[in-house]
Amino acid sequence: MAASLPVLTVATPWDNAEAWRTALAEAAPEFDVRLWGEAPDPARVVACAVWHPPALLFERCPNLRVVHALGAGVEHLLQRSEVRPDLPLLRLVDPVMTERLAQWALAGTLFFQRRFDRYLRQQRERRWLRHDHEDAGETTVGVLGLGVMGRAIAALLRRNGFQVIGWSRLPKELPGLGTWSGSDGLRAVASRSAILIAVLPLTGDTRSILDGDLFAAMPEGGFLINAGRGDHLVPADLMAALDTGRLDGALLDVFPVEPLPADDPLWHHPKVFVHPHAAAISNPRTGAIAIAEGIRAVLRGERPANLVDRERGY
Ligand code: GLV
Repeated sequence: MAASLPVLTVATPWDNAEAWRTALAEAAPEFDVRLWGEAPDPARVVACAVWHPPALLFERCPNLRVVHALGAGVEHLLQRSEVRPDLPLLRLVDPVMTERLAQWALAGTLFFQRRFDRYLRQQRERRWLRHDHEDAGETTVGVLGLGVMGRAIAALLRRNGFQVIGWSRLPKELPGLGTWSGSDGLRAVASRSAILIAVLPLTGDTRSILDGDLFAAMPEGGFLINAGRGDHLVPADLMAALDTGRLDGALLDVFPVEPLPADDPLWHHPKVFVHPHAAAISNPRTGAIAIAEGIRAVLRGERPANLVDRERGY
């Protein structure tokens, strides 16, 4: 029976590819869901759910009609010429992933606001020393990137009493949230933010946006949290800002090269906290439902909300 169904193929280097296959088979029973490499006949492949897929997939599947990313950031797919411009490309927007990221950002904010960073360093030196701190209501957090993820972070931080402001490249009005846009707006947000949280898409406009100029605009002793992409950050500028005390800590979940190479100085910097791209791991069970809906919408000829705008780059 499966032999007559169109094929949805899953291609990812992640070690949970089989979990994705199973979840998609359940969420999209109208497809024969196969791991790439086990797809019986490439001509039957009409849809794919991918993360860093092999180029061959696109060359070998003449009837491919839709490409769905297994994560939120799609710059790695946009950089690939095989992902032809006429192929609808969708990014994953999954409420569970959004919640995971918002909670991670809240944890990072509390980590710095309550100075867990300092106490961790003190413990290593067996130093018993208490530090007063500003309360949440006195702490302004700037969220860079006001898409689904940034808005969820802003809402959760506000529910926890923080003062939150936001920045996006293009102007965006959001109820109850002070927002800025453009490059002047970026400096304005940085200058007001004790903590900056970046959840931007990686595009030509946002590459290297977290640089020395931005850190110079921040209040002395500020903190940076980055969960966008490694290429948003200029690591040398960050380390210089940390060394001069301009910034007092950074929590990074993303890096230009992942895994972060063993000899990268970020591993050893006492004020840098390295997470292995784990802030919002895609979740097969709920992600598969969102992916199935997106693929169905495209095949019905509709325009799903999470369709990537290739001009915009996300
Ligand atoms: C993770 O970083 C993603 O883009 O989903």
